[in-house]
Amino acid sequence: MYTFTMGRCIVITSGKGGVGKTTVTAGLGLALAKNKSRVIVVDADITLNNLDLVLGLEGNVVYDLNDVILGKCRLSQALVQHPNTSLRLLPSIRGEDIPLRDFRKVMLELKEDSDFLLIDCPAGLDEGFTRAVDSASEAIVVTTPTPSAIRDADKVISVLNKMKIKRASLVVNRVRGDLVVEGSMLSPEEIANLLKIRLIGCIPEDDHALDYTGLGHEEHSLAIKMLARYISVGSGEIFDATDNFRGLLGGLRRILKKV
Ligand SMILES: Nc1ncnc2c1ncn2[C@@H]1O[C@H](COP(=O)(O)OP(=O)(O)O)[C@@H](O)[C@H]1O
Ligand SMILES: [Mg+2]
Repeated sequence: MYTFTMGRCIVITSGKGGVGKTTVTAGLGLALAKNKSRVIVVDADITLNNLDLVLGLEGNVVYDLNDVILGKCRLSQALVQHPNTSLRLLPSIRGEDIPLRDFRKVMLELKEDSDFLLIDCPAGLDEGFTRAVDSASEAIVVTTPTPSAIRDADKVISVLNKMKIKRASLVVNRVRGDLVVEGSMLSPEEIANLLKIRLIGCIPEDDHALDYTGLGHEEHSLAIKMLARYISVGSGEIFDATDNFRGLLGGLRRILKKV
């Protein structure tokens, strides 16, 4: 018997810009796709669209979301296939103004064709945010351990609570394990407690350039993999960025980090 299932639609949001929404969307999308899920990632950030670049797919973009809405191409033609995984990207172009109703219609079609539909949300809380969140039933709030990012995450969470999002969860990005051990950076757990939201992921600060064409640095990929697992299963272990900085060797690593 054929059972019809709609994909889980998850919006990746933050309030503040530059905290890692696009990086998390790309990494998570690839990690989920490697686990044999059908994944579609949507660039709903119309002001700073760069999901194609982070995924190394910018050279393959022919059509975009606006072309689909204007009827210039079919939805399937606009989707860019990732070369090594099942991930597909729906790109957008800078500055296009997309009515909520049209966006919703496209997202509905994409949900029917995927297991996971990940929407990369723009910063801020204006109509771009509302449009990106509208189709999702789950939200991942990304923050960094800085006061301004945490305050913006708090604002986003209170707005999400008033919308029809069933579940909002937290990912803390750019965590420096050495600073957490020393007590000069809040831990992801402390941030989640402050924000009163479920923590599902911790992504360490990566000193190396993040490059999703090659899938980034080892620790970073592990943290993303753990996040993908948490999301698929609904529970699981969270990456511990402090692990390398405890004990005698950890103390040495902390000192070396400062040199
Ligand atoms: N864990 C990390 N470690 C180091 N740099 C990061 C990390 N996450 C994101 N970045 C960098 O931060 C910048 C902003 O990330 P991006 O994903 O574009 O943020 P957003 O989409 O929220 O604006 C990028 O240059 C990205 O490479
Ligand atoms: Mg972005």
